[in-house]
Amino acid sequence: MSGQKEWSKEFKERFDKRYDELKWLYCEMYHNDMHAFEWLCDLMASCYEERGKALKKSDRLREKNPDWYRTNGLLGMMMYTNAFAGDLKGVLKKLDYVKSCGVNYLHLMPLLESPKGRDDGGYAISDFRKVQPELGTMEDLERLTAECHKQGISCCLDFVMNHTSEDHAWAKAARAGDAEARKRYFFYDNWVIPEQFEKTMPEVFPTTAPGNFTWLDDCKQAVMTTFYPYQWDLNYANCVVFNDMVGNMLFLANKGIDIIRLDAVPYIWKELGTNCRNLPQVHNIVRMMRLIGEIVCPGVLLLGEVVMEPSKVVPYFGTVGKPECHMLYNVTTMASTWHTLATKDVSLLRRQMDKVCELPKDYVFLNYLRCHDDIGWGLDYDWMKQFGTEEAAHKKYLNDYLTGRGYHSDSRGELYNDDPKLKDARLCGTTASLCGLEAALYEKDEKKALCAIACDEMLHAYLLVQSGIPVLYSGDEIGQLNDYTYKEEAAKREDSRYLHRGKFPWHLVEEKDELSMRLFKTLRELETARAEYDIFDGKASMWTFDTGSRSVLGIGRYLDGKKLLAYFNFSEHGQCIQVPPETNPARYEDILTKKRMDEIGGDIGGYGYYWFYQAD
Ligand code: GLC
Repeated sequence: MSGQKEWSKEFKERFDKRYDELKWLYCEMYHNDMHAFEWLCDLMASCYEERGKALKKSDRLREKNPDWYRTNGLLGMMMYTNAFAGDLKGVLKKLDYVKSCGVNYLHLMPLLESPKGRDDGGYAISDFRKVQPELGTMEDLERLTAECHKQGISCCLDFVMNHTSEDHAWAKAARAGDAEARKRYFFYDNWVIPEQFEKTMPEVFPTTAPGNFTWLDDCKQAVMTTFYPYQWDLNYANCVVFNDMVGNMLFLANKGIDIIRLDAVPYIWKELGTNCRNLPQVHNIVRMMRLIGEIVCPGVLLLGEVVMEPSKVVPYFGTVGKPECHMLYNVTTMASTWHTLATKDVSLLRRQMDKVCELPKDYVFLNYLRCHDDIGWGLDYDWMKQFGTEEAAHKKYLNDYLTGRGYHSDSRGELYNDDPKLKDARLCGTTASLCGLEAALYEKDEKKALCAIACDEMLHAYLLVQSGIPVLYSGDEIGQLNDYTYKEEAAKREDSRYLHRGKFPWHLVEEKDELSMRLFKTLRELETARAEYDIFDGKASMWTFDTGSRSVLGIGRYLDGKKLLAYFNFSEHGQCIQVPPETNPARYEDILTKKRMDEIGGDIGGYGYYWFYQAD
């Protein structure tokens, strides 16, 4: 390699350890193109050289303590910069609030340059090295990450790797006819091959963006656009794309990003005759990115966004010897949670959680109730079939319930991508609105409002009991409601995900709104307890148990002689509960109220919860 002589000792050591595997994978993927491989190695070396001192120091510490993100001490929050504080300088000013929420992992939603009106909420990037001007500059981002690090907060940013905006320089050149640039995407003179692809490729946004290709009338070409027509899929079979995107990823890591969220990663490899999702080459690419990260910036983690069924998600952890992502979203558990709220029957959730509990404890999941995206109903229908539950009818029930269209439901969600062909609508809405707070406040019904807050608190108590990293969706800590103003903007109107992307309601904080403060305080108590008791550590074993009520979920945890038995009532009605066999209720105490299990007895209130703990 050209500059190898000047490589620093630290870099060289990390590089040598991983060289064989990286080269092997690269040569297999890119037909032994050693010239391209050497270019990549030089890129890694120069990114290492450019990496700041403080970041290198943190790399070393994390390398020595590779379990640093596997503790119960982490609490995440994801937020839109503009919704929360206007711009990056604003977030810096409001960092005290973030800290007061106990957050030490901050996920800033996409903030790189993306043309207005055709940005899919920031997921159509036209320059991976430039911040959206209205949010600030790269220097602002660097200043913010540096300050976060000083205050013990790690920062996460999306790396939108599947596609670029049609306004990216590569796309513009491709459109103008540059042959090399066209090879970075999937360009076709006619519809023959696109039509063959369409035979096996499902649609991501069947109503808001049907089809997987877009015809460019100006240059008379069809281009692959799996997501929106203005998001052009990158062709990772071209090593130049891989090399340049690695350069972009390392650039962001060097700006102080600790966690790289690999956006829509299952989609990055396309092959005719397949569904173009989760193909083996995707795993090779992620494995190479992991190796590259370990060489250049070992303190940086990869978080895979794999919104798929569990059997597709888990392989993204890789194997013990050849790991891929450090963390993955616990997406099926999230969707099963909302199913449980709507059905008041915990059996499916138990089954789902049991599956997660069986996985190796090294796997770190990101647990969440809501995020910036819709809730897709990817549930275990094969299993539900035995109880006579049919997929389409069940999805309709969930959507009817959670949009408040019947069943005495106070939920206020909206449908997303309602596809009449597949009968597969998904769902949007904030946690508080789905829990019934919006309806209660509208009806000025105090009793209902308290019931909604209780439901919201119970869901968070349940979220926090799980192993992994809990990530709050900004605004949920104070019960932020749906925002309907997106309907007034033509570019957003069709995308109901904006329902839960509203401006942060600072007035609730400033005026110390009673309900918001109650929720905030309860969450802080729960989060503090989670961080203090090592029973919540990822090393603890976890299982579910029968509570005697089909509406009450029981989650057990065990670590070094200590035990937790937690109960969560998914119904608004009180329930009778029982303890697992051989449990002595006199020895358990609810962590939050400090009341003993035998004092509380066998009842749990509507949307009630207990965290019963036994110290030895
Ligand atoms: C991811 C994002 C989603 C976006 C899509 C396309 O799934 O979470 O918001 O629309 O990627 O980039």
